[in-house]
Amino acid sequence: MKIDIRKTTPFTDQKPGTSGLRKKVSVFSRKNYLENFIQAIFDTLGDLTGQTLVVGGDGRYMNRTAIQTIIKMAAANSIGKLIIGQNGLLSTPAASCMIRKYKTRGGLILSASHNPGGPDGDFGIKYNGENGGPAPEHVTDTVYRRSREITQFRIADVEDVDLDCLGERPIGGMTVQIIDPVEDYAQLMEHLFDFNLIRAAILSGALTVKFDAMHAITGPYAKRILEDRLYAVTGTVINGIPLEDFGGEHPDPNLFHARELAALMYGANAPTLGAASDGDGDRNMILGSRFFVTPSDSLAVLAANAHLLPGYRDGLRGVARSMPTSQAVDRVAEAVGVDCYETPTGWKFFGNLLDARKITLCGEESFGTGSDHVREKDGLWAVLFWLNLIALKRQSVAEIVRDHWRRFGRHFYTRHDYEAIDPNIAGAIVHRLRQQLPSLPGQTFGAYTVAFADDFSYEDPVDGSISEKQGIRIGFKDGSRIVFRLSGTGTEGATLRIYLERYEPEIEKHEQDAQEALSDLIQLAEHLSEAKQRTRMAAPTVIT
Ligand code: G1P
Ligand code: ZN
Repeated sequence: MKIDIRKTTPFTDQKPGTSGLRKKVSVFSRKNYLENFIQAIFDTLGDLTGQTLVVGGDGRYMNRTAIQTIIKMAAANSIGKLIIGQNGLLSTPAASCMIRKYKTRGGLILSASHNPGGPDGDFGIKYNGENGGPAPEHVTDTVYRRSREITQFRIADVEDVDLDCLGERPIGGMTVQIIDPVEDYAQLMEHLFDFNLIRAAILSGALTVKFDAMHAITGPYAKRILEDRLYAVTGTVINGIPLEDFGGEHPDPNLFHARELAALMYGANAPTLGAASDGDGDRNMILGSRFFVTPSDSLAVLAANAHLLPGYRDGLRGVARSMPTSQAVDRVAEAVGVDCYETPTGWKFFGNLLDARKITLCGEESFGTGSDHVREKDGLWAVLFWLNLIALKRQSVAEIVRDHWRRFGRHFYTRHDYEAIDPNIAGAIVHRLRQQLPSLPGQTFGAYTVAFADDFSYEDPVDGSISEKQGIRIGFKDGSRIVFRLSGTGTEGATLRIYLERYEPEIEKHEQDAQEALSDLIQLAEHLSEAKQRTRMAAPTVIT
């Protein structure tokens, strides 16, 4: 095998964000852009001689060509083995599952999650470590530093590898193993949930389901698990074939982007459960008939009921949520008597807590829920959790959530996003908010008195690392909150996210519309940030 050592010059913008390096395909297509970043990861990991890595992605445009480059570079960097999903496919949670199951040195996941794909869309790469989770900040920081000083990369001069045919083949001294991307993951799900019970409920007709894979990675997973193993009727999975451009759609599972599913669930004869997952399979949206479950509520409901399910019979060790996620799960933790951790946005912060066995469940308001079974959030896992719960309780999705609110009270919750705004304007909004922080506590705005106002800082309870400036929190005396932060995953301009939350203990008021219930706080957020005025946008781009 001939190895080329090619000269290169660094790019200055290869800084991984909330979840790896994400850029437009046009940026990733620049000469040596991908190669530089891959070499920076390999250099950061140190001696990789004989080590194994898992490789796969969500099937978006560039997935296959990037994998061919990775194979050639891995062979030239003395890696022992690559385990690659057939056709180059692996959902993010399945990649995490395989890294853990086969005890590899980690893996490379090719995805830009819910961002659009295709030649004009986005591409992304992230390295996950031996625990199966996204690399912690000190690793991504080192990759970034390395990317800025790189002068050469190593690549083998070999033919492309057939990614479609299962089995092992040698590439120089390295082995490439193409494996079924679904099987290991399906087995893990079968171990966590009561498949017999779910199957019986489906076969009896008591439980019907529709799953929207959004032309993305979860199609093959959902078909195998829901249709083949749980006997849901053929056609349960819609948009089930992964396409390189996701059919020109935005594979983000919310009411706005999963329109087909939303129309079905809000129409006559809706199935018991409607669900969708995103580009790489780690997000989930849960719907009942004419009923939307906010991700924050979903996390709280799962936490309150986990002990009823086979994989969680021993109860919860603790729970965690990202800072902007509603405090609904905090109430469950308090009732159950376990710790609840508040972490910065991004799944990587849950890894240490899971590894140290401090928590069992965790989640984010951004349609992410997961548990200690892998080190990523997991879309299909959440869907199976809900199916298991519905089969067990013999209740509808709405009944389960309403029962939960009756017991714990309701946290009205919404997120308003202002997308693709001028980064200077976004910076000015955040600057203005930061300046107000010292004077806010004690001030009263209508029914709300500010209890605290800060820029969230997190000290990891396991390794003591500190992450600062993780979002502006304004907390009120009644437990309501407004949070402002800038997205770390966008690829176009800046995105301002405004998160709003209000607690309502009174059952009679639980049926209100969330936007109405939060209208005072929404106005207050505008007053404090001047978001609309400064961006000259009449309304947020997306409301979830
Ligand atoms: C967004 C979500 C965050 C999630 C991340 C990756 O990040 O808000 O919760 O972990 O995508 O899916 P953001 O764009 O807000 O930085
Ligand atoms: Zn995702």
